[in-house]
Amino acid sequence: MRARVSSRASVALRNETFLQACRGQRPEHTPIWLMRQAGRYLPEYRAVRSKVSFEQMCRTPELCAEVTVQPIDRFGFDAAILFSDILVVFDAIGVPVAFNPAPVVGEPVRTAADVAKLRWGRADEHLGYVFDAVRACKSALADRVPLIGFCGAPMTTASYMIEGGGSREFEHTKQMAFREPALFHRVLDGITTLLVDYLRGQVDAGVDALQIFESWGAAFAPADYATHVLPHLGRLVREVKAFGVPVILFVRGNASLLADIRELGADVLGIDWSIELAEAIEVVGTEAVVQGNLDPQYLFAPPDVLAARARGIVEAGRRARAHVFNLGHGISRHTDPAIVQHLVDVVHGA
Ligand code: CP3
Repeated sequence: MRARVSSRASVALRNETFLQACRGQRPEHTPIWLMRQAGRYLPEYRAVRSKVSFEQMCRTPELCAEVTVQPIDRFGFDAAILFSDILVVFDAIGVPVAFNPAPVVGEPVRTAADVAKLRWGRADEHLGYVFDAVRACKSALADRVPLIGFCGAPMTTASYMIEGGGSREFEHTKQMAFREPALFHRVLDGITTLLVDYLRGQVDAGVDALQIFESWGAAFAPADYATHVLPHLGRLVREVKAFGVPVILFVRGNASLLADIRELGADVLGIDWSIELAEAIEVVGTEAVVQGNLDPQYLFAPPDVLAARARGIVEAGRRARAHVFNLGHGISRHTDPAIVQHLVDVVHGA
């Protein structure tokens, strides 16, 4: 508690545009950051990464800070996002995960017996290296721009442990939900409690905002999502909002859920590229703050085509209460850094 109060009190950020937008104000320019902005498309990231494994990087606060700051130094983004991964939380429940670089969970959790073996530890006991990374990032950023902390949403997170890695069909996740709904709810409830604890630790360590990634919102049909997933996501948002920093909720792949998602009360709604931003604003209302939503593949279009599309999104965003520019999903590892600078300049100049 003490750490949280002192870190909030010490904030005198030189670039507040992102936080202003999150609070529903209209900053001097549209703020921009990109999902996966710290990563393999940057030669300076690859240079660090060539010496250590991804797991080792996540566990080394100084390296997390170094690569978190790289895209800020290079492009002048308006926010930094902590370098880590949504799946490190498995350390707290005793589920080993390897990154090759796609995540692999060698012993998937699918039955009541598997679930009974989970440890349900506390974040501060097992994830202290993430909180150390937050402190290292804050110190390396020196209050230039805000730092975004994050976690996966309960279902997205649980799906990796139930499937044993990434998935197209989510067959084991949905089989658990449809055949053993009480077990599925128990798993999501336990994960949600852990995620609340984990995000509290990130805020105590100094993050200025939080993003919840529901990368696999398309896994369930809307009615089933409402039954099996939404109550847990709603509890996560509600409990995390009490920590006093803006909460961004990004649900990808199921734009027909937007009306339900709006009701959860997140401060900012992340919009993927499957819906035009103008239409998303129609659904969530002009009082909402939105973030998004350029298709990451536009970074491979000719610069003038990219610029026109990006300006169109900035224009559409003016109808919302406020708008944070972002991609509609993570940046591709094959992206040319020079075109990212072009995008930042276009958005800042629009
Ligand atoms: O956004 C950032 O720059 C911060 C860092 C970050 C990473 N993962 C680093 C990472 C964030 C916010 C994430 C979130 C994440 N991780 C999500 C949600 C966002 C999304 O993309 O939908 C998901 C689903 C994961 C799980 C995960 N981790 C996958 C599917 C992969 C492999 C995919 C790939 O890009 O190869 C990872 C590994 C991972 N996480 C890498 C990075 C930079 C690549 C590892 C490497 O450097 O070898």
